[in-house]
Amino acid sequence: MARRHIVGGLDIGTTKVVSVIAEVSPNGYPVIKGLGECPTLGVRKGVVVDKASLGKSIAHAVGLSQAMAGETISEFYGSFPVVSQLTGTLQITDEQLSESIAMAGVKILQVIPSVIASGEAVLTDTHKKIGTVLMDLGGAVTGLAVFDQGVPVYTHSLPIGSEHITSDLAVCLRTSISEGDRIKRSLGLIEPDPASTLEISGVGGHERRKVPAGAARDIIKSRIQEIFELAHQELSQHFRLASLTGGFILTGGGSLLKGVLDLAISQMNCCKVAVGSPAKVGIPREEWTSPVYASAIGLVLYGAKRSTRRSGRLSGWREVLDRFM
Ligand SMILES: Nc1ncnc2c1ncn2[C@@H]1O[C@H](COP(=O)(O)OP(=O)(O)OP(=O)(O)O)[C@@H](O)[C@H]1O
Ligand SMILES: [Mg+2]
Repeated sequence: MARRHIVGGLDIGTTKVVSVIAEVSPNGYPVIKGLGECPTLGVRKGVVVDKASLGKSIAHAVGLSQAMAGETISEFYGSFPVVSQLTGTLQITDEQLSESIAMAGVKILQVIPSVIASGEAVLTDTHKKIGTVLMDLGGAVTGLAVFDQGVPVYTHSLPIGSEHITSDLAVCLRTSISEGDRIKRSLGLIEPDPASTLEISGVGGHERRKVPAGAARDIIKSRIQEIFELAHQELSQHFRLASLTGGFILTGGGSLLKGVLDLAISQMNCCKVAVGSPAKVGIPREEWTSPVYASAIGLVLYGAKRSTRRSGRLSGWREVLDRFM
């Protein structure tokens, strides 16, 4: 029997760790056999505060994916969010992370910036050729990448993401983080009926109060608007956005916010905006095509390509990636 070809992707995000194990089919495409997910513990505001807890999150996600796939691989292509030292404070250093990764018994074959991994999963070859902006709206980080002529030509990370919306809601409405997250997901950016109210519980979970839904929606809107404004400012310093004819593709958990496309269209002054979900690989379960899994799935796509393509083409990709490391 031919030897099976297995690849693993490990995305250590600011809110969750996702491990994906895929079998590469003879035509070079990975078919996902197992996906494991665990909340990211031991990281606060991008700083590893508890290496052992982070190690446990990684080990748990990896263990779940291994059990589902029936494979016990320990080598993975890895990604984690990085924020430029110049613009932000989020900095999960290699050293802190590698200790947690080692505690989990995992070896990272190569690190790929998570926004580039996401691009692998959600952009078509045409998008990459004609010039397209990828925006990965993560938990604590918004990743930006521009693909052109088939390769990533630019990346940037903003130290602000979807978790900021949740904490704004929690602080302004005097409620818990979990209530903030619930309100964010249920309300999104859709304009509510002016008279409608939301029932929310107080911080201790006992007292329940009513707040105007419009006020909650305005809190969500002002934060996401800020993210788009910063992204637009940053990108227009480097590109004439009208020349990127592929427009904007949004992915990551923030792209699931109800009504986010309409806001992005007006803020980015571009009518070509879409949500990008992982779609190119053999994904046997519908729920795995969610944009929250873009980076993890992109890693196995990258890994499959890397291990099956002829070395000439690979070295081209390697050079491009090296520019972002
Ligand atoms: N259906 C939804 N509607 C609105 N927001 C959502 C939805 N699902 C997830 N989110 C939000 O998306 C965020 C997490 O996104 P994602 O899973 O892409 O982050 P991550 O990869 O862990 O973080 P990062 O990329 O910053 O490291 C959370 O703030 C979560 O509340
Ligand atoms: Mg992410």
